[in-house]
Amino acid sequence: MTTRFRVIPPPYRVKVVELLTKEQIEIAKSRRKREEAIKKAGFNTFLLAEAEVYIDLLTDSGTSAMSDNQWAGMMLGDEAYAGSKNFYHLEKAVQEVYGYKYVVPTHQGRGAEHIMSRILIKEGDFIPNNMYFTTRRLHQELAKGTWVDVSINEAHDPESGYPFKGNVDLKKLERLIKDVGTEKIPYMSLEANVNMAGGQPFSIENLKALKALCNEYQIPIMLDATRVVENAYFIQQREKGYKGKPIKQIVTEICSYTDGATVSGKKDAMVNIGGFLACNDERLFIEAKAQVVIFEGLHTYGGLAGRDMESMARGIYEMVDNDHVAARINQVEYLGYKLLRAGIPIVVPIGGHAVFLDAKRFVPHIAQENYPAQALTAALYLESGIRGMERGTVSAGRDPNTGKERRPKLELLRLTIPRRVYTNTDMDLIAKAVTRLYEKRERISGLKMVFEPKYLRFFQAKFESLEGELIKKNLH
Ligand code: F0G
Repeated sequence: MTTRFRVIPPPYRVKVVELLTKEQIEIAKSRRKREEAIKKAGFNTFLLAEAEVYIDLLTDSGTSAMSDNQWAGMMLGDEAYAGSKNFYHLEKAVQEVYGYKYVVPTHQGRGAEHIMSRILIKEGDFIPNNMYFTTRRLHQELAKGTWVDVSINEAHDPESGYPFKGNVDLKKLERLIKDVGTEKIPYMSLEANVNMAGGQPFSIENLKALKALCNEYQIPIMLDATRVVENAYFIQQREKGYKGKPIKQIVTEICSYTDGATVSGKKDAMVNIGGFLACNDERLFIEAKAQVVIFEGLHTYGGLAGRDMESMARGIYEMVDNDHVAARINQVEYLGYKLLRAGIPIVVPIGGHAVFLDAKRFVPHIAQENYPAQALTAALYLESGIRGMERGTVSAGRDPNTGKERRPKLELLRLTIPRRVYTNTDMDLIAKAVTRLYEKRERISGLKMVFEPKYLRFFQAKFESLEGELIKKNLH
């Protein structure tokens, strides 16, 4: 794969900065402090305090930098219980950019997933997905549905450079339809720029074919549009006929082939909190409004303050600016290409929101049952004070029917880049730290799980090192 790279300058400048504390600077310097912190956290980076983190690549969710325009919107919050003017701004933004008719705000993405799953899924249903996202799958399962993976095989191969690893395998979908019947498939769950595959897009060509198949069997398509902007950018860069097309137009086109969506505004739209459910079907809208008042809040605020809806509405217009998304993905690629040039095994093509280290190749001596990606994530923190996130066996959890651990093909450490937060100097530091760790890779030890929560275990599980030290001083 080519490592040719050109820096794209960002279309903003910095007006306010977040100061690191003395404690955070100290963490970067003191291995002893990092060792204490990661042990106390049970080798789970979710359990570290932010004060113990130097560079935070845990997630790009709610951690992006809002613009002056978004902050100004915060001051214009209309905190009326019902009919806040900010709701109407949000509704208009969703209609203009995504193109859906109806909008129900929720406190974040999983709030919308919860409501959608409750309404559409009944016991015994099967829900085809292009891979999975943790919260979306869990809500499908809690509604007594069965998740079925219909992603293409390339999505599970970190070394395949296929440009559209988010595509749906239509043959797998058709087989499911034949096996269980359309009446047992409430909708096709389609994720844009598939997070767990490494931030990988689907193509419009595949989406159109999916739409044709779903039309034939009258199965609606429900999009997880959380990362649709990054998907649209990859379409613009890679798909025939889309060069030079505005991102906004591609986003609207993607959504036009679908019947509704759940969205976390904490990613593309760069807010600290917020999400929504959107759809074109009035009956679904009416049911969603009935559910949102039970779990989130009134249907014109859905658990959000008026100011949160205003900053999300403004973020929706900002996110489809071509220069913005080009610079955002360019920074992720800047880090990715540096690691590739240093010979570090990462998922290719480089994703939209993160660089994913391939733990199976980074620490091949750690068996999958000893959580190689979790061990690598903890080791990177110990080495550098950089916090990433495990996306492997721990995140995949257990099969709800058998209770057995799922064994995903991908064992990844995700280095997620928040939008407009770090500079390329930070990327240089991160690349150096990963390279240093790579030189010690044989000394990294596996883990055993000593505490396991029932749901979404990756958030709170605790581990112990198999061999005393997480990074051994000597090999023997
Ligand atoms: N869908 C996708 C593709 C996501 O990445 C997320 C969140 C959600 C849905 C749920 O949204 O957090 O607002 O409830 N992803 C975060 C991450 C947590 O770190 O990737 P939420």
